[in-house]
Amino acid sequence: MDDSFCEKEKPVFGFEKHWNNAYQKTPTNNLGWYEENPTPSINLIEQCNLQKDALIFNAGAGTSTLIEQLLDKGYSNIIVNDIAASALTELNNNLSNHKNSQLNFIVDDLTNPTELLKLKNVDLWHDRAVLHFFTTPKQQEAYFNILKKVVKIEGFVILAEFSVEGAKKCGGLEIFNYNEEMLQESLGDDFVLLKSFNYTYTQPLGNTREYVYTLFQRTA
Ligand SMILES: C[S@@+](CC[C@H](N)C(=O)[O-])C[C@H]1O[C@@H](n2cnc3c(N)ncnc32)[C@H](O)[C@@H]1O
Repeated sequence: MDDSFCEKEKPVFGFEKHWNNAYQKTPTNNLGWYEENPTPSINLIEQCNLQKDALIFNAGAGTSTLIEQLLDKGYSNIIVNDIAASALTELNNNLSNHKNSQLNFIVDDLTNPTELLKLKNVDLWHDRAVLHFFTTPKQQEAYFNILKKVVKIEGFVILAEFSVEGAKKCGGLEIFNYNEEMLQESLGDDFVLLKSFNYTYTQPLGNTREYVYTLFQRTA
């Protein structure tokens, strides 16, 4: 039986507490979404041919290893967001080789943003396994509104979510499953799809989860 956090916890309180609780109770590398190597994201990011000082926004980053890998590759202008402050504290503590890195941490709710409203000119918005937790039209509208507010023209958007073939629940939370057409519809005509693929992720304890990965570019 899979006893990683994604499977066993039920959200008996608000989302902020739910996610803080997840990070406080479970070691990072046992979380149901932990990736030792975020290869699909890295490959898509490299296809964007960004300058090393491009503004990269990681939505709902948690303790993702993607941040350290981006720093290792020389990216120097990264904003790390999450609703769970404990995740970002842990992420920062884990960055042992990058003690002086210039990361900007923003604890804020993507579905009810305050600090995030100040952002602009984002070159790349990256989201893995966050948007699919927003199940109501109101949450989804708020998410896409802040994305469209901050991503600049010619900027890129990577959305990697549970696919329509994928899990319908995670950690007791309902999932809103996606395919590339649904993501295109939500982004609108100002965003053009550059790449899309299905990906089977294997959890730390061996179960699999089906994702759809998409890379869009804003054209207007
Ligand atoms: C399944 S985890 C994925 C974490 C990370 N993106 C990764 O791939 O390892 C979902 C993340 O979204 C964050 N999250 C959930 N709801 C959020 C919200 N409304 N605003 C910002 N972050 C949120 C959680 O705290 C958690 O870190």
